[in-house]
Amino acid sequence: MKWCAPGMRLGVMVSLFVFFDFALQSVYAEKCPCDIYKDGKTPCVAAHSMVRALFESYDGPLYQVRRTSDNKTMDIPLKSKGGYVNAAVQDSFLGGKPGTISKIYDQSEMGNHLVKSPIGGWLYQPADEAIANDTMIMINGNKAYGCYTHRHMGYRNNTTKGIATGAQSEGIYMVASGKSVNDSCCYDYGNAETNMKNNGTGTMETIYWGSMCYPGFGPCTGKGPWVFADLENGLFQGGETGRNAQNLTVICDYVTAIVKGNSKNYSIRAGDAQNGTLKTMASKAPRPAPNKLEGAIVLGVGGDNSWAARGIFFEGAITSGEPSDSIEDAVQKNIINAGYGKIAVKIKRGHVDQTVTENTVGVSYDCSLHRVVVNYGLVESRSVQFSIYDQQGRQIARIINANRTSGWHTAFWGARVPAGIYFWNVMVEGVFSKSGKVVVRK
Ligand code: AHR
Repeated sequence: MKWCAPGMRLGVMVSLFVFFDFALQSVYAEKCPCDIYKDGKTPCVAAHSMVRALFESYDGPLYQVRRTSDNKTMDIPLKSKGGYVNAAVQDSFLGGKPGTISKIYDQSEMGNHLVKSPIGGWLYQPADEAIANDTMIMINGNKAYGCYTHRHMGYRNNTTKGIATGAQSEGIYMVASGKSVNDSCCYDYGNAETNMKNNGTGTMETIYWGSMCYPGFGPCTGKGPWVFADLENGLFQGGETGRNAQNLTVICDYVTAIVKGNSKNYSIRAGDAQNGTLKTMASKAPRPAPNKLEGAIVLGVGGDNSWAARGIFFEGAITSGEPSDSIEDAVQKNIINAGYGKIAVKIKRGHVDQTVTENTVGVSYDCSLHRVVVNYGLVESRSVQFSIYDQQGRQIARIINANRTSGWHTAFWGARVPAGIYFWNVMVEGVFSKSGKVVVRK
């Protein structure tokens, strides 16, 4: 279901500008994570996602599902270029029967796709594929499935292209469930050994996410889960000795986790993927050993294929070069705008059938239809204004200027306006006034 169909926005003022869905295709409010990394001159050399495109221009499949009964596979596409996953394709292919995730496509041009980890290290059989429909979430009103790996499951690519080797710099980010973790080794995403063996400290550089305080590296701060750097032979917290009291437990439903580094040092950052900013848990920590990266990619297993950890992966990418904090901050904003955990809204004549307990406003970017979406909930009837301004501060459109009843409402903005930078403002009388920027490209 789309967020809105023409004719549902009752009371929306249509003036010089046209606000119907079909008029919005040339409007881009925000870039996707890998467009942001590219702007920072640290391009993605691997981009994996179960839920959405990580490039504005990506139009290929996100992942592949295998039907257990006949071993047939099906690629799971996007709803539209640069948009969200079309999970209905998976639902209809599996028809309620068992299936697994057989491949997670790399959206970058490098072709670094992930498949089940092969025999090697602690795996005496190839890893099992994750169950395809174990983890359903909503993201900005779109149904999606995460990749839930636990005992004996995990993904890998030992023959990658473009991933850092030796002492080259890189950055890694991931969005995973904040709730599904354990204290076993090792829920990792990032750069690992190509031979699936423990080749010594410095031969890996991955995000570790979980509640394992690695033996000999404690005490850890709080009870976990934490974002640590798995550099091999230890889950490094980012201090002088690997230990770091500033690396705090992260409590949230969806976590944004980051590890990045260069030949001299590494850094760790973490945040709530639904809200707020990233916290730097470790900045430029000295390396415990020179990095001798090998450039394989792991997801859900350790460098030596240790397979006892648990986690649910939604999206992540690996860059060539070490991204700046400000580029990562922009990626975090984009992740928040993507709308993890935002439920589907049941729209009835422009209103949503749900009780609102707190006045709320959420503004996000609909990557599928390239438009700004404003969801707001009112505890009681209020006067609402939603306006667009140009860079000189002139109001160029007033989309809502009316009383709205209690309940949930949705408004959209896209217009036949020249390319440029615009600003939106949503004001609910006596409750809140929020503003933001939108970039329109032609
Ligand atoms: O560094 C922690 C883990 O130790 C690695 O992921 C694994 O390769 C080794 O067992």
